[in-house]
Amino acid sequence: MIQTAKNQPVSAGNASSCCGGGQCGAAHPPVPPLNLPAVWKALADELMPEIRGILETGGYIMGPKVAAFEDALQRYTGAKHALGVSSGTDALLLAMMALRLGPGDEVIVPTFTFFGTAGTVSRVGAKPVFCDIDPVTYNIDVRHMESLITPRTKAIVPVHLYGQLADMRPLMEIARKRGIPVIEDACQAIGAREAGTDGKMAGQFGEFGSLSFYPTKNLGAMGDAGALLVNDTPLFETSKLLRTHGENPRYYHRLIGGNFRLDALQAAILTIKLRHLDAWTQRRREIAASYRIRFEAAGLAPKHVGLPAEKHGMHTYHQFVVRVARRDDLCKHLTARGVGWGIYYPLPLHLQDCYTELGYKAGAMPHAERAADEVLALPMYPELTDAQLDSVVAAFAGFYSG
Ligand SMILES: Cc1ncc(COP(=O)(O)O)c(C=O)c1O
Repeated sequence: MIQTAKNQPVSAGNASSCCGGGQCGAAHPPVPPLNLPAVWKALADELMPEIRGILETGGYIMGPKVAAFEDALQRYTGAKHALGVSSGTDALLLAMMALRLGPGDEVIVPTFTFFGTAGTVSRVGAKPVFCDIDPVTYNIDVRHMESLITPRTKAIVPVHLYGQLADMRPLMEIARKRGIPVIEDACQAIGAREAGTDGKMAGQFGEFGSLSFYPTKNLGAMGDAGALLVNDTPLFETSKLLRTHGENPRYYHRLIGGNFRLDALQAAILTIKLRHLDAWTQRRREIAASYRIRFEAAGLAPKHVGLPAEKHGMHTYHQFVVRVARRDDLCKHLTARGVGWGIYYPLPLHLQDCYTELGYKAGAMPHAERAADEVLALPMYPELTDAQLDSVVAAFAGFYSG
Protein backbone atom coordinates (compact mmCIF):
# COMPACT_ATOMS: atom_id res chain seq x y z
CA MET A 1 0.00 0.00 0.00
CA ILE A 2 1.17 3.49 -0.74
CA GLN A 3 -0.05 6.38 1.36
CA THR A 4 -1.27 9.26 -0.75
CA ALA A 5 -2.38 12.54 0.76
CA LYS A 6 -4.27 12.50 4.02
CA ASN A 7 -5.42 9.09 5.15
CA GLN A 8 -5.90 7.70 1.69
CA PRO A 9 -4.28 4.31 1.48
CA VAL A 10 -4.10 3.43 -2.15
CA SER A 11 -2.74 0.29 -3.64
CA ALA A 12 -0.31 1.17 -6.37
CA GLY A 13 -1.07 -2.13 -8.07
CA ASN A 14 1.30 -3.85 -10.44
CA ALA A 15 2.96 -2.66 -13.59
CA SER A 16 0.72 -3.74 -16.39
CA SER A 17 -0.48 -2.67 -19.79
CA CYS A 18 -3.32 -0.28 -20.54
CA CYS A 19 -5.45 -3.03 -21.94
CA GLY A 20 -4.77 -5.42 -19.09
CA GLY A 21 -3.55 -8.15 -21.38
CA GLY A 22 -0.82 -6.46 -23.36
CA GLN A 23 -2.86 -6.28 -26.57
CA CYS A 24 -1.85 -2.72 -27.34
CA GLY A 25 1.80 -3.68 -27.46
CA ALA A 26 2.99 -0.66 -25.47
CA ALA A 27 4.87 -0.98 -22.17
CA HIS A 28 3.21 1.23 -19.57
CA PRO A 29 5.21 2.06 -16.45
CA PRO A 30 3.33 2.13 -13.15
CA VAL A 31 2.36 5.54 -11.77
CA PRO A 32 2.44 5.72 -7.99
CA PRO A 33 0.19 8.37 -6.50
CA LEU A 34 3.26 10.13 -5.09
CA ASN A 35 7.04 9.88 -5.18
CA LEU A 36 8.42 11.56 -2.06
CA PRO A 37 11.69 9.56 -1.98
CA ALA A 38 12.54 11.03 -5.40
CA VAL A 39 12.27 14.54 -3.93
CA TRP A 40 14.62 13.59 -1.12
CA LYS A 41 17.10 12.04 -3.55
CA ALA A 42 17.18 15.14 -5.73
CA LEU A 43 17.75 17.48 -2.76
CA ALA A 44 19.79 15.31 -0.39
CA ASP A 45 23.07 17.12 -1.13
CA GLU A 46 21.50 20.49 -0.31
CA LEU A 47 19.55 19.29 2.71
CA MET A 48 21.97 16.99 4.50
CA PRO A 49 24.58 19.59 5.62
CA GLU A 50 21.78 21.81 6.93
CA ILE A 51 20.10 18.95 8.80
CA ARG A 52 23.41 17.80 10.26
CA GLY A 53 24.27 21.36 11.33
CA ILE A 54 21.00 21.70 13.24
CA LEU A 55 21.34 18.30 14.87
CA GLU A 56 24.84 19.24 16.01
CA THR A 57 23.88 22.65 17.46
CA GLY A 58 20.99 21.27 19.50
CA GLY A 59 18.70 24.21 18.65
CA TYR A 60 15.69 22.16 17.67
CA ILE A 61 12.66 24.37 18.30
CA MET A 62 12.08 27.88 16.85
CA GLY A 63 15.23 30.05 16.77
CA PRO A 64 17.08 31.60 13.79
CA LYS A 65 16.12 28.88 11.27
CA VAL A 66 12.45 29.55 11.89
CA ALA A 67 12.97 33.32 11.69
CA ALA A 68 14.84 32.92 8.37
CA PHE A 69 12.05 30.77 6.96
CA GLU A 70 9.42 33.28 8.06
CA ASP A 71 11.33 36.07 6.29
CA ALA A 72 11.64 34.06 3.09
CA LEU A 73 7.98 33.06 3.20
CA GLN A 74 6.81 36.61 3.86
CA ARG A 75 8.76 37.81 0.83
CA TYR A 76 7.51 34.95 -1.33
CA THR A 77 3.82 35.32 -0.47
CA GLY A 78 3.74 39.12 -0.26
CA ALA A 79 1.70 38.86 2.95
CA LYS A 80 2.47 41.47 5.62
CA HIS A 81 3.69 38.92 8.16
CA ALA A 82 4.41 35.18 8.24
CA LEU A 83 4.48 32.97 11.33
CA GLY A 84 5.86 29.45 11.21
CA VAL A 85 3.56 27.05 13.07
CA SER A 86 3.11 23.34 13.72
CA SER A 87 0.58 22.54 10.95
CA GLY A 88 -2.01 24.01 8.61
CA THR A 89 -4.72 23.00 11.06
CA ASP A 90 -2.96 24.87 13.85
CA ALA A 91 -2.60 27.92 11.60
CA LEU A 92 -6.39 27.98 11.18
CA LEU A 93 -6.94 27.43 14.89
CA LEU A 94 -4.51 30.20 15.78
CA ALA A 95 -6.26 32.64 13.43
CA MET A 96 -9.62 31.82 15.02
CA MET A 97 -8.18 32.23 18.52
CA ALA A 98 -6.63 35.57 17.54
CA LEU A 99 -10.07 36.72 16.33
CA ARG A 100 -11.48 35.53 19.69
CA LEU A 101 -14.14 33.42 18.01
CA GLY A 102 -16.23 31.37 20.40
CA PRO A 103 -19.68 30.19 21.43
CA GLY A 104 -22.51 32.06 19.72
CA ASP A 105 -20.35 32.97 16.70
CA GLU A 106 -20.94 31.60 13.22
CA VAL A 107 -18.20 31.00 10.66
CA ILE A 108 -19.01 30.34 7.01
CA VAL A 109 -16.95 27.56 5.43
CA PRO A 110 -17.35 25.58 2.22
CA THR A 111 -18.66 22.08 2.84
CA PHE A 112 -16.35 20.54 0.24
CA THR A 113 -12.90 20.73 1.83
CA PHE A 114 -10.50 19.01 4.20
CA PHE A 115 -12.01 18.51 7.64
CA GLY A 116 -9.62 20.90 9.38
CA THR A 117 -11.27 23.93 7.76
CA ALA A 118 -14.45 23.34 9.78
CA GLY A 119 -13.06 21.28 12.66
CA THR A 120 -11.08 24.27 13.89
CA VAL A 121 -14.26 26.39 13.96
CA SER A 122 -15.85 23.80 16.23
CA ARG A 123 -12.74 23.57 18.40
CA VAL A 124 -12.99 27.25 19.37
CA GLY A 125 -16.65 26.70 20.24
CA ALA A 126 -18.10 28.55 17.23
CA LYS A 127 -20.57 27.08 14.74
CA PRO A 128 -19.55 26.19 11.19
CA VAL A 129 -22.16 27.32 8.67
CA PHE A 130 -21.68 25.26 5.55
CA CYS A 131 -21.78 26.72 2.08
CA ASP A 132 -22.14 25.02 -1.31
CA ILE A 133 -19.51 25.27 -4.04
CA ASP A 134 -19.16 26.54 -7.57
CA PRO A 135 -19.32 23.26 -9.54
CA VAL A 136 -16.70 24.52 -12.01
CA THR A 137 -13.92 25.43 -9.56
CA TYR A 138 -15.05 23.39 -6.50
CA ASN A 139 -14.52 26.55 -4.43
CA ILE A 140 -16.99 28.45 -2.24
CA ASP A 141 -20.09 29.73 -4.06
CA VAL A 142 -19.94 33.43 -3.25
CA ARG A 143 -23.64 34.08 -3.87
CA HIS A 144 -24.67 31.27 -1.58
CA MET A 145 -22.14 32.53 0.96
CA GLU A 146 -23.70 36.00 0.97
CA SER A 147 -27.15 34.50 1.64
CA LEU A 148 -25.77 32.76 4.75
CA ILE A 149 -24.48 35.90 6.48
CA THR A 150 -26.27 36.79 9.72
CA PRO A 151 -25.46 39.22 12.54
CA ARG A 152 -23.68 36.29 14.21
CA THR A 153 -21.26 35.73 11.27
CA LYS A 154 -17.85 36.50 12.72
CA ALA A 155 -15.57 35.11 9.99
CA ILE A 156 -15.55 33.62 6.51
CA VAL A 157 -13.07 30.90 5.55
CA PRO A 158 -12.78 30.49 1.77
CA VAL A 159 -10.61 27.54 0.71
CA HIS A 160 -8.38 27.68 -2.37
CA LEU A 161 -9.07 24.04 -3.16
CA TYR A 162 -6.69 21.90 -5.20
CA GLY A 163 -4.37 24.91 -5.73
CA GLN A 164 -6.80 27.36 -7.35
CA LEU A 165 -7.88 30.69 -5.84
CA ALA A 166 -11.48 31.03 -4.72
CA ASP A 167 -13.43 33.91 -6.30
CA MET A 168 -11.74 36.37 -3.94
CA ARG A 169 -12.59 39.80 -5.38
CA PRO A 170 -16.41 39.61 -4.92
CA LEU A 171 -15.94 37.64 -1.70
CA MET A 172 -13.71 40.31 -0.18
CA GLU A 173 -16.06 43.07 -1.31
CA ILE A 174 -18.93 41.42 0.55
CA ALA A 175 -16.80 40.72 3.63
CA ARG A 176 -15.37 44.26 3.76
CA LYS A 177 -18.82 45.84 3.34
CA ARG A 178 -20.08 43.84 6.32
CA GLY A 179 -16.89 44.13 8.38
CA ILE A 180 -16.41 40.36 8.54
CA PRO A 181 -12.82 39.09 8.83
CA VAL A 182 -11.60 36.58 6.24
CA ILE A 183 -9.28 33.65 6.94
CA GLU A 184 -8.08 32.20 3.64
CA ASP A 185 -7.49 28.47 3.88
CA ALA A 186 -4.57 28.42 1.46
CA CYS A 187 -3.27 25.09 2.78
CA GLN A 188 -3.36 23.60 -0.74
CA ALA A 189 -2.50 26.74 -2.65
CA ILE A 190 0.88 28.27 -1.88
CA GLY A 191 1.86 30.41 -4.87
CA ALA A 192 -1.60 30.52 -6.49
CA ARG A 193 -2.15 34.04 -7.75
CA GLU A 194 -4.41 36.27 -9.76
CA ALA A 195 -3.55 36.94 -13.40
CA GLY A 196 -1.48 40.04 -14.19
CA THR A 197 1.75 41.34 -12.75
CA ASP A 198 0.06 43.02 -9.78
CA GLY A 199 -2.25 40.07 -9.11
CA LYS A 200 -2.52 39.07 -5.47
CA MET A 201 -1.29 35.75 -4.16
CA ALA A 202 -3.14 33.30 -1.93
CA GLY A 203 -2.92 34.64 1.62
CA GLN A 204 -2.79 38.31 0.63
CA PHE A 205 -6.52 39.00 0.49
CA GLY A 206 -7.88 38.31 3.97
CA GLU A 207 -6.77 39.17 7.49
CA PHE A 208 -5.19 35.71 7.60
CA GLY A 209 -4.03 32.94 5.30
CA SER A 210 -3.18 29.41 6.44
CA LEU A 211 -0.55 27.26 4.74
CA SER A 212 0.11 23.56 5.25
CA PHE A 213 3.49 21.98 4.64
CA TYR A 214 2.25 18.42 5.08
CA PRO A 215 4.78 16.33 3.10
CA THR A 216 2.49 15.82 0.09
CA LYS A 217 1.84 19.53 -0.38
CA ASN A 218 3.46 21.55 -3.22
CA LEU A 219 5.89 22.84 -0.58
CA GLY A 220 6.19 19.87 1.75
CA ALA A 221 8.13 19.49 4.98
CA MET A 222 9.54 16.20 6.22
CA GLY A 223 7.03 16.03 9.02
CA ASP A 224 4.14 18.25 10.04
CA ALA A 225 4.50 22.01 9.59
CA GLY A 226 2.46 25.04 8.59
CA ALA A 227 2.39 28.81 8.52
CA LEU A 228 -0.02 31.59 9.32
CA LEU A 229 0.10 34.61 7.02
CA VAL A 230 -1.23 37.76 8.68
CA ASN A 231 -2.04 41.03 6.94
CA ASP A 232 -2.87 43.09 10.03
CA THR A 233 -0.12 44.03 12.48
CA PRO A 234 -2.11 43.93 15.77
CA LEU A 235 -3.55 40.53 14.79
CA PHE A 236 -0.03 39.36 13.97
CA GLU A 237 1.23 40.41 17.41
CA THR A 238 -1.66 38.56 19.07
CA SER A 239 -1.08 35.45 16.93
CA LYS A 240 2.62 35.48 17.78
CA LEU A 241 1.83 35.52 21.49
CA LEU A 242 -0.80 32.78 21.15
CA ARG A 243 1.69 30.55 19.30
CA THR A 244 3.57 29.99 22.57
CA HIS A 245 0.92 29.96 25.28
CA GLY A 246 0.46 33.74 25.22
CA GLU A 247 3.80 34.00 26.93
CA ASN A 248 5.86 37.24 27.16
CA PRO A 249 8.26 37.43 28.85
CA ARG A 250 9.15 33.82 29.59
CA TYR A 251 6.73 32.24 32.07
CA TYR A 252 4.49 35.32 32.19
CA HIS A 253 1.25 34.76 30.26
CA ARG A 254 -0.77 37.59 28.75
CA LEU A 255 -3.19 35.35 26.86
CA ILE A 256 -4.27 31.71 26.88
CA GLY A 257 -2.68 30.30 23.76
CA GLY A 258 -1.17 26.93 22.90
CA ASN A 259 1.92 25.23 21.58
CA PHE A 260 1.86 25.96 17.86
CA ARG A 261 5.66 26.19 17.45
CA LEU A 262 7.59 25.15 14.38
CA ASP A 263 10.81 23.19 14.72
CA ALA A 264 14.15 24.27 13.29
CA LEU A 265 14.67 21.18 11.12
CA GLN A 266 11.39 21.67 9.28
CA ALA A 267 12.04 25.39 8.89
CA ALA A 268 15.49 24.79 7.40
CA ILE A 269 14.19 22.11 5.04
CA LEU A 270 11.35 24.39 3.95
CA THR A 271 13.69 27.35 3.38
CA ILE A 272 15.72 25.25 0.96
CA LYS A 273 12.67 23.75 -0.73
CA LEU A 274 11.02 27.18 -1.11
CA ARG A 275 13.81 28.12 -3.56
CA HIS A 276 12.60 25.33 -5.85
CA LEU A 277 8.88 25.99 -5.51
CA ASP A 278 8.37 28.12 -8.62
CA ALA A 279 10.13 25.57 -10.82
CA TRP A 280 8.03 22.76 -9.31
CA THR A 281 4.83 24.76 -9.82
CA GLN A 282 5.80 25.37 -13.44
CA ARG A 283 6.36 21.64 -13.91
CA ARG A 284 2.95 20.87 -12.33
CA ARG A 285 1.35 23.27 -14.80
CA GLU A 286 3.14 21.58 -17.71
CA ILE A 287 1.90 18.21 -16.50
CA ALA A 288 -1.65 19.57 -16.27
CA ALA A 289 -1.36 20.83 -19.86
CA SER A 290 -0.01 17.42 -20.96
CA TYR A 291 -2.91 15.63 -19.27
CA ARG A 292 -5.37 17.91 -21.09
CA ILE A 293 -3.76 17.29 -24.48
CA ARG A 294 -3.66 13.54 -23.93
CA PHE A 295 -7.25 13.21 -22.66
CA GLU A 296 -8.57 15.29 -25.53
CA ALA A 297 -6.46 13.51 -28.18
CA ALA A 298 -7.70 10.16 -26.89
CA GLY A 299 -11.31 11.34 -27.26
CA LEU A 300 -11.87 10.89 -23.51
CA ALA A 301 -12.45 14.57 -22.66
CA PRO A 302 -15.01 15.95 -22.36
CA LYS A 303 -17.09 12.82 -23.14
CA HIS A 304 -15.95 10.67 -20.21
CA VAL A 305 -13.54 12.88 -18.32
CA GLY A 306 -14.39 16.39 -17.09
CA LEU A 307 -11.12 18.32 -16.99
CA PRO A 308 -10.40 20.96 -14.32
CA ALA A 309 -11.11 24.60 -15.17
CA GLU A 310 -8.66 27.45 -14.60
CA LYS A 311 -11.06 30.23 -13.73
CA HIS A 312 -9.44 32.47 -11.14
CA GLY A 313 -5.81 33.19 -11.98
CA MET A 314 -2.90 30.81 -11.89
CA HIS A 315 -3.77 27.31 -10.70
CA THR A 316 -0.85 25.61 -8.93
CA TYR A 317 -2.27 22.09 -9.38
CA HIS A 318 -1.76 20.75 -5.92
CA GLN A 319 -4.19 18.21 -7.31
CA PHE A 320 -5.26 17.50 -10.89
CA VAL A 321 -8.89 16.58 -10.34
CA VAL A 322 -11.21 15.25 -13.03
CA ARG A 323 -14.89 14.35 -12.94
CA VAL A 324 -15.85 10.87 -14.02
CA ALA A 325 -18.85 8.57 -14.15
CA ARG A 326 -18.65 4.98 -12.77
CA ARG A 327 -15.86 6.08 -10.43
CA ASP A 328 -15.69 2.96 -8.25
CA ASP A 329 -15.18 0.65 -11.21
CA LEU A 330 -12.70 3.05 -12.79
CA CYS A 331 -10.66 3.16 -9.58
CA LYS A 332 -10.45 -0.65 -9.48
CA HIS A 333 -9.34 -0.64 -13.10
CA LEU A 334 -6.66 2.00 -12.43
CA THR A 335 -5.36 0.17 -9.37
CA ALA A 336 -5.07 -3.06 -11.33
CA ARG A 337 -2.94 -1.19 -13.89
CA GLY A 338 -0.62 0.38 -11.36
CA VAL A 339 -2.11 3.87 -11.62
CA GLY A 340 -2.52 5.73 -8.32
CA TRP A 341 -5.51 7.94 -7.56
CA GLY A 342 -7.17 9.78 -4.69
CA ILE A 343 -10.62 11.09 -3.78
CA TYR A 344 -10.67 14.54 -2.17
CA TYR A 345 -13.28 14.39 -0.68
CA PRO A 346 -15.76 11.51 -0.62
CA LEU A 347 -18.25 13.06 1.85
CA PRO A 348 -18.98 16.79 2.23
CA LEU A 349 -18.61 18.09 5.76
CA HIS A 350 -22.31 18.93 6.32
CA LEU A 351 -23.05 15.19 6.04
CA GLN A 352 -20.29 13.98 8.38
CA ASP A 353 -21.41 12.06 11.48
CA CYS A 354 -19.79 14.58 13.81
CA TYR A 355 -22.01 17.35 12.41
CA THR A 356 -25.35 15.48 12.61
CA GLU A 357 -26.48 17.84 15.34
CA LEU A 358 -26.31 20.77 12.93
CA GLY A 359 -29.28 19.21 11.13
CA TYR A 360 -28.18 19.27 7.50
CA LYS A 361 -29.87 16.73 5.21
CA ALA A 362 -28.65 15.03 2.04
CA GLY A 363 -29.51 17.27 -0.89
CA ALA A 364 -28.84 20.50 1.03
CA MET A 365 -25.63 21.25 -0.92
CA PRO A 366 -26.24 19.70 -4.35
CA HIS A 367 -23.05 20.84 -6.07
CA ALA A 368 -20.78 19.62 -3.29
CA GLU A 369 -22.62 16.31 -2.98
CA ARG A 370 -22.36 15.68 -6.70
CA ALA A 371 -18.66 16.58 -6.70
CA ALA A 372 -18.06 14.16 -3.83
CA ASP A 373 -19.48 11.36 -6.00
CA GLU A 374 -17.58 12.27 -9.16
CA VAL A 375 -14.16 13.76 -8.44
CA LEU A 376 -10.98 11.80 -8.95
CA ALA A 377 -7.45 13.10 -8.37
CA LEU A 378 -4.80 11.77 -10.73
CA PRO A 379 -1.09 11.43 -9.98
CA MET A 380 0.37 14.95 -9.93
CA TYR A 381 3.95 15.65 -8.90
CA PRO A 382 6.89 17.28 -10.69
CA GLU A 383 8.77 14.00 -11.13
CA LEU A 384 6.11 12.43 -13.40
CA THR A 385 7.43 11.38 -16.80
CA ASP A 386 5.69 11.54 -20.18
CA ALA A 387 5.61 7.74 -20.24
CA GLN A 388 3.77 7.76 -16.92
CA LEU A 389 1.24 10.28 -18.22
CA ASP A 390 0.72 7.97 -21.19
CA SER A 391 0.09 5.12 -18.73
CA VAL A 392 -2.61 7.08 -16.91
CA VAL A 393 -4.44 8.06 -20.08
CA ALA A 394 -4.07 4.59 -21.59
CA ALA A 395 -5.61 3.08 -18.47
CA PHE A 396 -8.59 5.47 -18.79
CA ALA A 397 -8.88 4.62 -22.50
CA GLY A 398 -8.89 0.91 -21.68
CA PHE A 399 -11.70 1.42 -19.18
CA TYR A 400 -13.98 3.56 -21.31
CA SER A 401 -13.51 1.47 -24.45
CA GLY A 402 -14.33 -1.73 -22.55
C1 LIG B 1 -7.74 22.66 2.66
C2 LIG B 1 -6.92 22.22 3.84
N1 LIG B 1 -7.11 22.84 5.01
C3 LIG B 1 -6.38 22.50 6.10
C4 LIG B 1 -5.43 21.52 6.04
C5 LIG B 1 -4.70 21.16 7.29
O1 LIG B 1 -3.31 21.16 7.15
P1 LIG B 1 -2.38 20.18 8.06
O2 LIG B 1 -2.55 18.81 7.55
O3 LIG B 1 -1.00 20.72 7.84
O4 LIG B 1 -2.86 20.34 9.45
C6 LIG B 1 -5.20 20.85 4.84
C7 LIG B 1 -4.18 19.78 4.73
O5 LIG B 1 -4.43 18.68 4.37
C8 LIG B 1 -5.97 21.20 3.70
O6 LIG B 1 -5.80 20.58 2.54
